[in-house]
Amino acid sequence: MTFTLPTLPYAHDALEKAIDKTTMEIHHGRHHKAYVDNLNAAIQGRSEFDGQSIEAILAKAATLPDDIRQKVINNGGGHANHTLFWETMSPNGGGDPSGVLADAITSTFGDLATLKQKVKEAALARFGSGWSWVVVSGGKLEILSTANQDSPLMHGKTPILGVDVWEHAYYLRYQNKRADYVDAFWHVINWSDVAARFQKAGH
Ligand SMILES: [Fe+2]
Repeated sequence: MTFTLPTLPYAHDALEKAIDKTTMEIHHGRHHKAYVDNLNAAIQGRSEFDGQSIEAILAKAATLPDDIRQKVINNGGGHANHTLFWETMSPNGGGDPSGVLADAITSTFGDLATLKQKVKEAALARFGSGWSWVVVSGGKLEILSTANQDSPLMHGKTPILGVDVWEHAYYLRYQNKRADYVDAFWHVINWSDVAARFQKAGH
């Protein structure tokens, strides 16, 4: 099976209110592309991966063959994480969620501001590279962070929102100010995509 780099669902400069055009070009066209290319190289000639989604492969990461496990975690995770990241942002994003997702946020965290604060805390607490996530686990919303390109799917949790806190995601505009980048991220969050993921995850 060969994985492909997904096309961005908007122009490189469409998220300027949070992320600059050059960062988007490099992040998608070079970083994400490298994850896809390296994932394909790692599983080349291994028919056991035929027809499997990257999500299904990551969910059984612990049982992958020793010689490719870490390559698949790094590059398959990179592919899955970035695909989610692009889709959960929009030039028309921002605002507040609605419907059952909004209800779940209120019942779990009290209010949206508290969710945002906890996502930010997880982002800032991640030393080095990684992600801050909102996941569905056992039908409930949780916030956690992962290192490098580790996916929550490896731990049986379904990510519905993720903030990439690798420096490649924000350094050109924000330099060392990761907190400012996380604050700006909310201006482009695509709540309807996050809500669809929440519905699909089952809750
Ligand atoms: Fe990234």
